[in-house]
Amino acid sequence: MKKVFVTWRIPEEGLDVLKKEVSVEVNPRDRALTKLEIIEGVREKDGLLCLLTDGIDAEVMDASPNLKVISNYAVGYDNIDIKAATSRGIVVTNTPEVLTETTADFAWALLMACARRIAEADRFTREGKFREWSPTLLTGRDVHGKTLGILGLGRIGSAVARRGKGFNMKILYTGPRRKRKLEKELGVKYVSKEKLLKESDFVTLHVPLLPTTYHLIGERELKLMKPSAYLINTSRGPVVDESALVVALKKRTIAGAGLDVYEKEPELMEGLAQLDNVVLSPHIASATIETRTRMAMVAAQNVLAALKGTPINVVNFKSARGHQRPRLPSRR
Ligand code: GLV
Ligand code: GLV
Repeated sequence: MKKVFVTWRIPEEGLDVLKKEVSVEVNPRDRALTKLEIIEGVREKDGLLCLLTDGIDAEVMDASPNLKVISNYAVGYDNIDIKAATSRGIVVTNTPEVLTETTADFAWALLMACARRIAEADRFTREGKFREWSPTLLTGRDVHGKTLGILGLGRIGSAVARRGKGFNMKILYTGPRRKRKLEKELGVKYVSKEKLLKESDFVTLHVPLLPTTYHLIGERELKLMKPSAYLINTSRGPVVDESALVVALKKRTIAGAGLDVYEKEPELMEGLAQLDNVVLSPHIASATIETRTRMAMVAAQNVLAALKGTPINVVNFKSARGHQRPRLPSRR
């Protein structure tokens, strides 16, 4: 029987899928494992099912000469050294699609929370500050009819665009490629990054973390945004230069931000938590019971398919089709 190591107790449905066909060892602790513990766990295993917070590099891969598959319990896979995996013939898989709508829902929740100051209003109300109704109490900004700027019109970006249409928004997007078919289907317009930043009332990030998207939003980009605009990030922390963002938020050169991810997760940049014009959440955009269960099942099926030699949801070994992603600068 093939052996698989799972770095955290994922929803039982996923473990059940695995247990039917392979011998499974699960991290017994209720915390993330250290690198050494992961190396220990991987020994003699054929498959590894890991989290986006597990840094999987050559050393981890070399802990087992039998390792055939690394199944990431996430759509993003910047935590894995893809080049090292590919050169060792190890298949890397992710969990796309099952989390698309859930993540788009959450990006929308952050956008709405920023525009209508929901987190601030909640704090205000709890603190007993609601003494009287007033014409200007906690006034925010309209969402409907405004301009939405989407950086990265992939699956999640497109799902966000569809929500924007329901709010009668003008929708701009940018990215490495124009997507004419999607433009027609979604009624979105391709513009340069500069134009998108200058014209959008809400800028939302849906790109993977790559060398080319590292600090995609920095001081220069924040300066292009309108003082009334909001930045929403549900992608990866390092896509935004978080210290530049704190400065922009402090100086109010942008109106606010809704963040689910951080540059040095789980740490927050100094000063961020003290600001009123941010809504912060702990990397939970895909966190619904339904989606986390589906992700567990997909991640488990990915392991089994790869071990049978018919891999699915593969993110490497696609260089011929231009999908192979370059290695990231190290950030740990
Ligand atoms: C979550 O951040 C994911 O990549 O699935
Ligand atoms: C995520 O996988 C996306 O394509 O947006």
